Amino acid sequence: MIPESFIQELLGRLDIVDVVERYVPLRKAGANYSACCPFHSEKTPSFTVSPAKQFYHCFGCGAHGSAIGFVMQYSGLGFIDAVEDLAAHIGLQVPRETSVQRVADSARKAPLTEVMARAAGFYRQQLKASPKAIDYLKRRGLTGEIAARFGLGYAPEDWQSLQKTFSNYDDVALVECGLVIVNEQGRRYDRFRDRVMFPILDQRGNVIGFGGRVIGEGEPKYLNSPETPLFEKGRELYGLLQARKAIHEADTVIVVEGYMDVVGLAQLGVENAVASLGTATTEMHVHKLIKQARRVVFCFDRDKAGDRAARRAMEASLNHLIDGKSVEILQMPGDQDPDEYIRENGKEAFQHLVLNATRLSEYLVREIKKPANQGSDKQFNLSTAEGRTQLVEEAKPLLQKISAPVLRVQITNEIAKLAQLTQAEIEAQCGLKPLARYRTPPRGQKRTVEVSKLRTLLKAILERPERAARVPLDIIPDDHPDGAALHFIARAFEQGELPTGNHGVMLEFLRGSSHEAAVMALVEAVATETDEASSEKEFEETLGSIRIQELKSEIAALTAMERQGGLPPDERRRLAELLVRKTGESQGN
Ligand code: UTP
Ligand code: MN
Repeated sequence: MIPESFIQELLGRLDIVDVVERYVPLRKAGANYSACCPFHSEKTPSFTVSPAKQFYHCFGCGAHGSAIGFVMQYSGLGFIDAVEDLAAHIGLQVPRETSVQRVADSARKAPLTEVMARAAGFYRQQLKASPKAIDYLKRRGLTGEIAARFGLGYAPEDWQSLQKTFSNYDDVALVECGLVIVNEQGRRYDRFRDRVMFPILDQRGNVIGFGGRVIGEGEPKYLNSPETPLFEKGRELYGLLQARKAIHEADTVIVVEGYMDVVGLAQLGVENAVASLGTATTEMHVHKLIKQARRVVFCFDRDKAGDRAARRAMEASLNHLIDGKSVEILQMPGDQDPDEYIRENGKEAFQHLVLNATRLSEYLVREIKKPANQGSDKQFNLSTAEGRTQLVEEAKPLLQKISAPVLRVQITNEIAKLAQLTQAEIEAQCGLKPLARYRTPPRGQKRTVEVSKLRTLLKAILERPERAARVPLDIIPDDHPDGAALHFIARAFEQGELPTGNHGVMLEFLRGSSHEAAVMALVEAVATETDEASSEKEFEETLGSIRIQELKSEIAALTAMERQGGLPPDERRRLAELLVRKTGESQGN
């Protein structure tokens, strides 16, 4: 864990303008800087960087964030790596318990990374010298350009060909990297022999592993690097680095099963595909994928294994769903994999399939209707009470996992209809917390603050967190997302967790919280330059009108009670006091 205080210190010491300029040339435009957006293609600049607010925003595609967010989005690093990267740049040490361990870790990994890079270079060079391997790739429809783009190589047939590039073949690093195997007699030999090599890169472009395909028939078809200090299979996605730009542009990431699917799709112009390296989709994969784009489309072959894989991908996804993002499942028609399909039917046909993939919610409901592990066609008999009960049992563990609140309500609703129960009954039976309702307002009076006003307040606070101190939280409902965000920020400010006046810090503070969406919706408004005086005026007027509205509704309630049967002395005093306050407020505004 990196302490929140360090994140604030880091953002306090950095200037987002310098950070962005490391990657994108900026031009001064008024109080801000602008450029053509690095996250989508455009001809006129709509990407802005605000030094005052310390955040960036693109009016074209909506990309936005703090300096940390920029590095994450631009270079695809995770949060921790982005923080480390920025801290290193200004000579700050990231204070974490594991920091020492991490330094030791990267010191240990550095020589391995070098070994892998060298091996990859050797295999690439060997490909050029192997007509047999070149011919194989050509027969599979690949051009030299694509082979180069993915760094494809060839491991020669010899038992110790790596000796040609590593002068010390006995180096333990070669074993640690999984390139060399030591047998029981202590004899060393290359793991990969006579195979087409697919290097697996991490997000910085380091080679962390290989997949090697036999040329033609043979077992195993693909030989992969073992898990090493560099390579953890459940985390990595093949082709992510090459696909990044296309993923941004399409705002979609396609997840396929094989190396050749990624490369074959890219060859025919579908460049936003990655593969999950022969392992089942893990939660870590989904977590990574869902950050890349608004849509994640998992492609699976239409066979038993593919069906199981789809189900696992669905289960791994539930816990990472975010309202507003879409996870979809594409079951390939016929028995072709994406590589075979696109080769036969072309790019448009494949993209058409992707466009018409099944939304996870639909897939999920379909799955819930079937008893687990009993063939794909059997369904619960929903005309019987037993069948409907089994359906609810089947749904329970899945519904519990869904992390996106709105989506969960929608799916629960569908299950409720199928089970002939109410939404509340399903929620109770499955132990789901219903979406928060309005707190019961006192005196049976319905308390409402118009959403537009909540939004104005939230925007004002996002611009200047210190304004939170002036918001009468007791009359701001906290069940509406904007209201909840207001409460959250106000509390944080009160407790000294947020400094004044810096929107970048605020964004980092809200990262990963349930309030991100509410804030995201306002980014554009915050990014738009307004002068201080008019934004202050708008804030004050909104506060005033909320206060008056609240007063009026309480007065109305008390007056009604008085007419019906009189008020107890306390309430009568309160009414008098409210009437006085109302006069004051109206005059003040
Ligand atoms: P497939 O058997 O579907 O192969 O394995 P493919 O992707 O269609 O490959 P080509 O077109 O025949 O060359 C899908 C993925 O499963 C893993 C690999 O990651 C492969 O890309 N796999 C498969 C292995 O790791 N080892 C194997 O022996 C087979
Ligand atoms: Mn294939």
